[in-house]
Amino acid sequence: MKSPSRSGVFQASTDERLEAFAESISFDSRLYRQDIRGSIAHAEMLSNVGLLTEEEFSLIRDTLVEIQSEIDNDQLPFRFELEDIHMHVEQALIDRIGDVGRKLHTARSRNDQVSTDIRMWVREALDGIDARLETLQRAFLSRCDGDFETILPAYTHLQRAQPVLAPHYWLAYIEKFQRDRERIADCRRRVNQCSLGIAAVAGTTLPIDREQTARQLGFEGVTANSLDTSSDRDFMLESAFVLATIASHLSGWAEEWILWSTVEYNFIKIPQQFCTGSSIMPQKVNPDTLELTRGKSARVMGNLQTLMLLVKNLPLAYNRDLQEDKPPLFDSFDTVQAMLELAAPIVSGSELQREAIESRLERGYLDATTLMEWMIDKGVPQRRAHHLVGAIVGEAMQRDVPLAELPLELLQNHAPEIDATVFDSLGCKNSVAAFVSYGSTAPDQVRLQIDRWKTKLK
Ligand code: ARG
Repeated sequence: MKSPSRSGVFQASTDERLEAFAESISFDSRLYRQDIRGSIAHAEMLSNVGLLTEEEFSLIRDTLVEIQSEIDNDQLPFRFELEDIHMHVEQALIDRIGDVGRKLHTARSRNDQVSTDIRMWVREALDGIDARLETLQRAFLSRCDGDFETILPAYTHLQRAQPVLAPHYWLAYIEKFQRDRERIADCRRRVNQCSLGIAAVAGTTLPIDREQTARQLGFEGVTANSLDTSSDRDFMLESAFVLATIASHLSGWAEEWILWSTVEYNFIKIPQQFCTGSSIMPQKVNPDTLELTRGKSARVMGNLQTLMLLVKNLPLAYNRDLQEDKPPLFDSFDTVQAMLELAAPIVSGSELQREAIESRLERGYLDATTLMEWMIDKGVPQRRAHHLVGAIVGEAMQRDVPLAELPLELLQNHAPEIDATVFDSLGCKNSVAAFVSYGSTAPDQVRLQIDRWKTKLK
């Protein structure tokens, strides 16, 4: 069959190797619903402005609906010579209704068609990611009350730093995913502009109504410059960036929980249905879901890179290179979606190893900074307090005891400002209770944030 894109100018048929090289149907077939919806809106607009009769529009619409259900049921065979989903749908229409079908592509090009289809697809896919991010936020939030009494070490440089409430950790991830959701909302506004009607590159001489198709397709507005629109893939880059950032957040979390589930940490137990065994070592329960979350994030970041490189040297306007935009974009959406779907049940189903955590909590001098701030509160200049506490910690290390077990006289030898009330701030529990600042791990601050999120995620 001759491709409908080959006009009378061609005297040779397409080399088969080019057909196989140039096809995009193997990946853009997933745009068929958007393509058909776009075509129906386009045909309706054409009939409203007098470029199609009402009967022609009805016939086109009804036939497109039939074609959609055929594709739904895998009944429309895909062929490389028809290149992409746009030509498959158009050809199926022409096969059924002949010349009326040949009118559908009036005032339209595949350049605006593909851009409109992908914008509709991305818009929906972003909403799907947003909903899954919210589910994951809820999973973290669902842990907060039950884990409220558990204190964990906070690390900097992966060295024990200060004590925090476990929910402070969970809220940290809720915040990260909230920023991701805000980025989605922001990017969605630019995705949700309609390209249809810019035609190939310069617009059309025919009296179309772009606002009408845009409204019909649920877009917030129409793009303003046909040259720009024909070439624009910024909305894909932004989406790929948003997804790469989500993947980065998930990867960091996965890395943390992989560490936490080792014998060395023994902080958390991951539900066994998300772990796998070893074919040779019978004792192994491996956190593969988390490892693959970390591993697959590399692909999502690579996809962003691919898209950046794809567009960086393109002169205006549409260039066929742009066909290569879909595989990396689809892959990023699919991968992040799968990661999020697995992350939520792991987060809500994992068990903190409370006793193991508590038994080692007083090691590593998590309360040293609290002691320093206690001294600052008594009037000792920060630099001096910092130095003195360092010396006190050094002595505690030599004796192999926590700060709370040092005798008062020893503390006073270092700093005469210290009195017995200092012990109310030593030890992880006292230390956590001593925090006061907004956004800190102070129990009432954490409670405030949990309540804020409970309201927000209701
Ligand atoms: N298959 C093409 C793509 O996905 C459709 C657009 C082709 N446009 C063109 N002028 N050849 O980008």
